Amino acid sequence: MANPKNIIAVGGGKGGIGKSLLSANLAVGLALGGYRVVLADTDYGASNLHALLGIVNPRLGLRDLIHYQESDPGNLLMDTGVGNLKFLSGAGDLSGSFPLSREANQNIISIIAGLDADYVVVDLGPGVHSDTLERFNLASTGIVLTLPEIPSVMNAFSFIKSVLFKKIQNALPDGDKTQELFRDSASSGGRNERDELCSLDDLKEKAALIDPNLVLAIDEATAKFKPNLVVNRVRKKKDLLAGDNLAQLAKKYLNVNLNFLGFIIESDRVRDSVDEMIPFLIKDPQSKPSENLQQILGNLTQTDLYLVKKDGVIFSSKRVALSSDWKV
Ligand SMILES: Nc1ncnc2c1ncn2[C@@H]1O[C@H](COP(=O)(O)OP(=O)(O)OP(=O)(O)O)[C@@H](O)[C@H]1O
Ligand SMILES: [Mg+2]
Repeated sequence: MANPKNIIAVGGGKGGIGKSLLSANLAVGLALGGYRVVLADTDYGASNLHALLGIVNPRLGLRDLIHYQESDPGNLLMDTGVGNLKFLSGAGDLSGSFPLSREANQNIISIIAGLDADYVVVDLGPGVHSDTLERFNLASTGIVLTLPEIPSVMNAFSFIKSVLFKKIQNALPDGDKTQELFRDSASSGGRNERDELCSLDDLKEKAALIDPNLVLAIDEATAKFKPNLVVNRVRKKKDLLAGDNLAQLAKKYLNVNLNFLGFIIESDRVRDSVDEMIPFLIKDPQSKPSENLQQILGNLTQTDLYLVKKDGVIFSSKRVALSSDWKV
């Protein structure tokens, strides 16, 4: 199978902040915009992604591929009722969480990377488990989600730090002391003996004492890391400052530049769409949260996506943004 052009992963440390909602509606929006999309559920715990699409009980999932050697991932893709959009369930028809072996996790990563689609949208579970970080790092576009409240911003910061440190660990020689340095710092919450946040520069200094030649590998891994940011459940303008605060923290402590993609307002329309098992973008493409989502989609795809619903049918128009060289 051909590789997908683009893998988008949606993560953020904490549970219940809207990762699945954002993943589902992004996938729907991309499909309505004419792309061939697979929405992949890699949260094997208490996932609800299928329900957000109106799928009550997924028959098959990645679990079948791992445990029963179903050979073709294409056979596991389910129709969603949105043309162009297929769903790849995680848990299949068995409920409950299941811890994965390293081999199984690698298997999932290669399945996702090998899917035949323009976009694969990957919904990650909560937390900073090593498997979750690996899947975030697989994506060509990583989206970190946060709520406006400070504890959520700090969680998102920890998530970004864990993803970066994982990236750096992967770039360093296996078993090296510098690798341990980043692993230990990630697991200790990245704080020093005085309980202050440890910066990337602090760790780089320590790494340079062990092997100065590896600092370049650390810098290269850091430079490649360009996460995107969405703020969810925004109620007032001031809430958007959460995005600025997170961007400042990421720059100051990790030397990472966050790209702000947009925000989604707090809305009963969103909650209702969950109860009714219909993505809010389909239910009403012109509602405020749907407009927010179209803005995010526009920034992701460099196009101006505009959706209108008339007599139960959704029409989409897409204007492609030209580079400045083409503007006259
Ligand atoms: N913008 C919003 N407006 C109103 N309610 C929202 C909004 N975003 C999320 N919610 C509420 O939060 C709930 C949790 O969202 P969701 O399941 O997407 O979170 P999650 O981050 O995927 O959680 P988990 O990590 O447990 O999988 C939704 O069911 C919805 O009720
Ligand atoms: Mg979820």
